[in-house]
Amino acid sequence: MCGIVGYTGRNACVDVLVDGLRRLEYRGYDSAGIAVLTGGDIAIRKSQGKIARLIDRIAREPVSGTCGIGHTRWATHGRPSDENAHPHRAGRVAVIHNGIVENHRTLKDRLLSKGRTFCSETDTEVISHLLDECVGAGMPLEEAVRRTVAELRGSYAFLAVTDREPETVVGARLNCPMVVGLGQGEHFLASDITAFLAHTRDVLFLEDGEMVVATPDAIRITDFHGQPRARKPQQIDWSPVMAEKGGYRHFMLKEIHEQPRAILDTLAGRMLPEEGEVFFETLPLSADHLASVRKVTLVACGTSWHAALVGKFMIEGLARVPVEVDLGSEYRYRDPVVEEGTLCVSISQSGETADTLAGMREAKSKGATTVSICNVVASTIARESDGVIYTHAGPEIGVASTKAFTTQLVALYLMALHLAQARKVLSPREISMHLIELSDLARKIEEYAKREDEIAAVAKKYKDVRDFLYLGRGISYPIALEGALKLKEISYIHAEGYPAGEMKHGPIALIDERMPVLVLCARGESYEKTFSNLEEAHARGGRVIAVGTEGDDLLAGKAEDVLYLPSCGRFVRPILEVVPLQLLAYHMAVLKGTDVDQPRNLAKSVTVE
Ligand code: G6P
Repeated sequence: MCGIVGYTGRNACVDVLVDGLRRLEYRGYDSAGIAVLTGGDIAIRKSQGKIARLIDRIAREPVSGTCGIGHTRWATHGRPSDENAHPHRAGRVAVIHNGIVENHRTLKDRLLSKGRTFCSETDTEVISHLLDECVGAGMPLEEAVRRTVAELRGSYAFLAVTDREPETVVGARLNCPMVVGLGQGEHFLASDITAFLAHTRDVLFLEDGEMVVATPDAIRITDFHGQPRARKPQQIDWSPVMAEKGGYRHFMLKEIHEQPRAILDTLAGRMLPEEGEVFFETLPLSADHLASVRKVTLVACGTSWHAALVGKFMIEGLARVPVEVDLGSEYRYRDPVVEEGTLCVSISQSGETADTLAGMREAKSKGATTVSICNVVASTIARESDGVIYTHAGPEIGVASTKAFTTQLVALYLMALHLAQARKVLSPREISMHLIELSDLARKIEEYAKREDEIAAVAKKYKDVRDFLYLGRGISYPIALEGALKLKEISYIHAEGYPAGEMKHGPIALIDERMPVLVLCARGESYEKTFSNLEEAHARGGRVIAVGTEGDDLLAGKAEDVLYLPSCGRFVRPILEVVPLQLLAYHMAVLKGTDVDQPRNLAKSVTVE
């Protein structure tokens, strides 16, 4: 989730670009750069690290011009470094890009065979080469972009400039945001309006499959075939802070709604649903190595530990390998037995959590092969493990983890299928069925999230309670834990997650008319049993909120409130079930007036014991 900005006009562009990047820094902050059209050439300044380092670099090597592009990076392909920082130049073209080019390997091989040389490990560099091939052959930049997008698969919002057209910036968008700012004799392009809100509030939003050609005096929007697209300007009345949050009140809410996109990015380039195949380019473990795994140990903390608990069901259920799950803080000190054939998978959004890192080092020192599931590219855990699966969720700023969690679950699901494939436990046909189910998950979440008002109404009813109980069975039990954790973290209401079958061994004593009990009771392998637990809570006067499957009218007879989810397969269910729980915790917290994005006493990343 990088930030992009472009400018063409009559004013000096460097300050406009740098200021825009500063405002987009929340979208990524591992490197930054600009490209400015100047004196018949393209001048590039870029640097690893935060924007401040880029500013130092520009101060040492000043550059000026009235047309340029800028980028702040959140690494996906290629670690954070000067070489991997954008813009990427090939010949007469410079490009900045947000998104993932899924077929970059194939394109790169083809370009290499034609004698093109690459300077970075990024997927983006193929775009600059493809454009340069066309521009070098005499094509206008607009035509070059049109030819290039026809070859790209994946998601992108990119901007390109060439020294042959010193006043033009051309952009294209597919599944990543891009907005145009309209000024007097100047135009702005960016990932979001935060970047240029100080200059204009008149904007045009680009849609998927559209291109834009910007010069100081004109903006032209077309589809990828060159057909003009009419667009009405809109006036934006957001404050800069609101703009950074994409119009949402809090980062947490924005991140909840980003989950469909984040999940698609986690899946991108890693599966062939029709063929029933899963692959990870950053996992250098051969099929033989994976087939020889005898035990998987999952190590994590906090929300990532809940993902690990779900992962156990996925890996055991699909790949038929025994799995143990441990908290980093426990595993590191309990002198674990690590047998030959152990694969230790550490799960961490930040990749920096001290206990998880120590747990992984412990497993490694005892001979385990280590793999990590991380969101932050080139973080310590990612670097130190033998292989890494990045979740590609983009920066998560709200302290309460949401999109990092659901993408961890998707990555674990893919990993379980990958193991099953190596061990030949599932046939390609069976794997294909799972992948088709996964392919539809983002759409289901997107549809579901439109019903946020229903959840907000439920939150209103329960906002003044002191305690909350969450029940779930099997693969939904960790989701009960996660729902309770979300509520505790941001609303400060005491909440407990419990395995539904264990209710009779303790928590049932707590149930009375003041105690809301949220039961995860979607249709599936343990539906009847969970339904009985729900009835027990209802019979004792508990206020039951059920999360169930659409069309299940029985629930309405027993529960005070029912949140209905679309029907789905067993391993996708927990990923869907957590969404209403995230939204419920969010709305309860908002009603209680807490600091949702930075709850008291908590930190986003805990790098100490
Ligand atoms: C902190 C955060 C949690 C997170 C946990 C583990 O407690 O507040 O949201 O789940 O650390 O972080 P990690 O980066 O390792 O996933």
